[in-house]
Amino acid sequence: MKMRRLLITGGMGQVGTELLNCHWPADTELVAPTRQELDLSDFDSIGTYISQGEFDAVINCGAYTAVDKAESEVLTAWKINALAPAALAAATKIAGIPLVHLSTDYVFDGSKIEPYTEDDPVAPLGVYGASKEAGEQAVRTGNPRHVILRTAWVFSAHGSNFVKTMLRLGKERELVKVVDDQMGCPTAASDIAAVVRQIVVRLIEDLKAPVGTYHFVNSGAATWCTFALDLFTKREAAGFKVPKIEAIATEDYPTPARRPRNSQLSTEKLKRDYGVQPRDWPTALEDVFRLLSTDANL
Ligand SMILES: NC(=O)c1ccc[n+]([C@@H]2O[C@H](COP(=O)([O-])OP(=O)(O)OC[C@H]3O[C@@H](n4cnc5c(N)ncnc54)[C@H](OP(=O)(O)O)[C@@H]3O)[C@@H](O)[C@H]2O)c1
Repeated sequence: MKMRRLLITGGMGQVGTELLNCHWPADTELVAPTRQELDLSDFDSIGTYISQGEFDAVINCGAYTAVDKAESEVLTAWKINALAPAALAAATKIAGIPLVHLSTDYVFDGSKIEPYTEDDPVAPLGVYGASKEAGEQAVRTGNPRHVILRTAWVFSAHGSNFVKTMLRLGKERELVKVVDDQMGCPTAASDIAAVVRQIVVRLIEDLKAPVGTYHFVNSGAATWCTFALDLFTKREAAGFKVPKIEAIATEDYPTPARRPRNSQLSTEKLKRDYGVQPRDWPTALEDVFRLLSTDANL
């Protein structure tokens, strides 16, 4: 039996880790190089790695995700989020294999009231969003056999994310102030991974599988504050002491990068083309919360 080889970049990140934990078809071999083994800022090595790897598909979970730091580390953000995807797209096109690339709700400016669809115009507010948008363009133009999957507000039991930050702050403080006027879709990394797996398997098996840009998020919307309230309600029900939560405005929590007021994403297109039906975020959070509850540090 010939094994299918998949290259996963960013395999140590939130989504990458969940992809490695996914239940894959038995004939699948996952190759997830560390940053030392494949540095995404070394564009030549990306080409060499892919041309020599005999891969059947590439999944790019590697990214520069520090939204605020990107405002001052512009070049690094653009290298990893825009130029590395360009190199990945070129190399996968030459190898004749599909590329699944992850992107973000922060390509939008947040001025829309309803959830964003894939056809809505992009207008990133900061360096991170702009570099990710450029990465999308590079993938779109570099390899026609691509799926760009935009997602949002990612949480998981590993890596850095809002859920883990809140649990830490909740232990340290009596009062936690949380922004209540930015609306988005909290999404479990494990659910993103399951969808990516489904897309990749179909792209490998079916040359006519749908390609293009898609949105995937867990269903339901939240503000950062309502997200935190749900988390601490779960925490209190599990018998832990919880802090008081105070809702604040974006203006009261100044950050280097501006963020969209609304970045809800519509998942209708993914439902239509891939039959994906996202579960709601509080249910997904329940799973992660259970995993984190066994972490003695939280
Ligand atoms: N996190 C969110 O809330 C969010 C929201 C919307 C969209 N997204 C998108 O979803 C995707 C996955 O996000 P995530 O949360 O899983 O990201 P993450 O946890 O920050 O992981 C990013 C990964 O990229 C790797 N990486 C960064 N620079 C690298 C380099 N020079 N060479 C090799 N590897 C490098 C990191 O390696 P190290 O482990 O060595 O640092 C890490 O494994 C990204 O495309 C992101 O833009 C994320």
